[in-house]
Amino acid sequence: MLRNQFAGLLGLVVLQGAFAKIDQSDFAPADIIERDVAVVGGGAAGSHAAVRIREYYRRSVVIIEKEGNLGGHVNTYQDPKTGNIQDYGVAMYFPYQDALDFFTWMNVNISLTFPANQDNPKIYADFSTGQQLVNFTEIERSQGLEAIAKFVNLTIEKGYDQMVQPGYTNLPPGKDIPEDLLLPLGEFVKKYDIETMLPFIYSSTGSGVGSRGYFTKLLTLTFLKAFPPGWARAYLGEIPIYAVDGGNQVLYNEIATLMRRDVLFNSTVIESSRAAGKIELVAQSSDGTKKLILAKKLLIAVPPTRENLAPFDLDEAERVHFSKTKYGRSHTALISHSKLPEANLVNTPESASQSPITPFLQTPFVIGFTYVKAFGDAKVFQISAAGDNYTAFDVPAAQAAVQDALEKLAEKGTIPDLEGEKVKIVSWDDNGPGGFGVSAEDLRAGWMEDMYKMQGKRGTWYTGNGLGADFTVMLWKFNDGLLGGLIRA
Ligand SMILES: Cc1cc2nc3c(=O)[nH]c(=O)nc-3n(C[C@H](O)[C@H](O)[C@H](O)COP(=O)(O)OP(=O)(O)OC[C@H]3O[C@@H](n4cnc5c(N)ncnc54)[C@H](O)[C@@H]3O)c2cc1C
Ligand SMILES: *[C@@H]1O[C@H](CO)[C@@H](O)[C@H](O)[C@H]1NC(C)=O
Ligand SMILES: *[C@@H]1O[C@H](CO)[C@@H](O)[C@H](O)[C@H]1NC(C)=O
Ligand SMILES: *[C@@H]1O[C@H](CO)[C@@H](O)[C@H](O)[C@H]1NC(C)=O
Ligand SMILES: *[C@@H]1O[C@H](CO)[C@@H](O)[C@H](O)[C@H]1NC(C)=O
Ligand SMILES: *[C@@H]1O[C@H](CO)[C@@H](O)[C@H](O)[C@H]1NC(C)=O
Repeated sequence: MLRNQFAGLLGLVVLQGAFAKIDQSDFAPADIIERDVAVVGGGAAGSHAAVRIREYYRRSVVIIEKEGNLGGHVNTYQDPKTGNIQDYGVAMYFPYQDALDFFTWMNVNISLTFPANQDNPKIYADFSTGQQLVNFTEIERSQGLEAIAKFVNLTIEKGYDQMVQPGYTNLPPGKDIPEDLLLPLGEFVKKYDIETMLPFIYSSTGSGVGSRGYFTKLLTLTFLKAFPPGWARAYLGEIPIYAVDGGNQVLYNEIATLMRRDVLFNSTVIESSRAAGKIELVAQSSDGTKKLILAKKLLIAVPPTRENLAPFDLDEAERVHFSKTKYGRSHTALISHSKLPEANLVNTPESASQSPITPFLQTPFVIGFTYVKAFGDAKVFQISAAGDNYTAFDVPAAQAAVQDALEKLAEKGTIPDLEGEKVKIVSWDDNGPGGFGVSAEDLRAGWMEDMYKMQGKRGTWYTGNGLGADFTVMLWKFNDGLLGGLIRA
């Protein structure tokens, strides 16, 4: 009896496998795309990689991109009335090796920029209660910068910068990863007496790689993805920061024009089979049409989450490997509300009045409402929101959190009565999974080595913010290190 059931189960598995097999004859010739390399995801990493593969390495390529445009976290909004623009996603770029040459190569102009809207008056309030903080004083900026400078020096002295930039290629094997990098951030800053940097790095990293729970518990290695020494130098003003003339989306629109015959927009992979030299992908567009992609190699440039990897026919080792990653979810947006003051409302927990060094929020949270001066009387505010539960903190949940924060602020008189007016969404972007990390135990056990050993297995390579430091210029240099090997393989 047991035996029979077991045989039945096996039969079922085999049958499902048989059904899952991709049959070329299901596709009209016009729906079959043959390329050297298929790139999944056209964000910062995928778009750049595809351009390099086609234009520098002269191999054919196709990008499969879920959205209707390239650029991922880049969001440039143009106010219809004033024509002014605001980048409310990726804001800036800084020199890192020769990464900025990519703009020159793409014939896209960049100019020096400065963080906008930071000189607005500030109102500190605890959004969970709506209460304005009367006794809160920020840590002196000079103290924060001094600690960050010390942090940069020590990461360079100890060689940690080389271990995390542009990716983790040079991170020692699990058992040799320096203990410092596996400390919770709170212990790391205490050990080196640089705690005054905490509130500054918290706001610089989107409130603590936002979504991943309490900031000081974050692994130092995970923190370094969001605040690598290369970026710290830009933060300190030692190196310049740039933005694209006309908005950061301009670069990706140029890439879309250049690559137009090689991009499948509004499309995701729904089925695949992967082997060295033989990749088959079925891509489905939001209008239901399906294309079969036959490629020699696959470059995965989307966050390696369970959902994103589900259609990729993972084997057991891959499934176990990718089940160890942790991630949260964040959103950035422009909203408007006529009752909000022309100021920056900063979400600050009441406990920060006693302890201004740890003004950390409990997830999920709305970081603040930053008044966007460029849009004048349109009364537009930039916001971001983060949660540590990826599935729960979806768009409706995040928008409800914004409305809830405003209602609480109004109830306590921190802002005027809302008079029933609801938050108006001007432009919204779900950043999706973010704050990738792996536990100290899994890193010790060799997760990162395994990740790098996976490059090229079953004809598949990986790039993007799961593997490198979470800044565009670093991901571009990570690509430069990766693509030579991909092409030669
Ligand atoms: C709010 C915010 C501000 C930031 N500011 C800066 C900054 O100022 N400077 C900077 O250098 N970095 C900044 N970053 C970090 C930067 O966004 C990342 O380093 C970079 O975008 C990561 O690139 P990526 O290609 O790995 O991922 P993404 O840019 O997220 O690209 C992934 C792409 O894949 C697509 N996609 C997702 N799932 C699928 C799927 N299943 N199938 C097909 N396509 C899919 C997405 O639509 C997206 O286009 C910021 C990030 C955020 C969230
Ligand atoms: C993608 O889908 C959106 C929404 O359906 C549509 O407006 C847009 O034109 C599509 N883009 C492309 C390039 O197909
Ligand atoms: C880039 O800048 C140059 C020099 O200022 C200018 O001539 C050119 O028109 C600009 N290109 C674009 C696309 O804006
Ligand atoms: C603010 O500080 C003053 C002086 O220390 C104290 O009297 C007052 O109760 C504090 N107010 C709040 C809301 O904590
Ligand atoms: C960092 O190192 C530089 C160069 O060695 C030195 O000039 C500077 O004083 C150091 N800064 C701190 C804060 O230790
Ligand atoms: C995350 O939220 C989902 C509901 O969206 C819930 O089912 C799940 O248990 C939550 N996970 C955790 C770890 O709390």
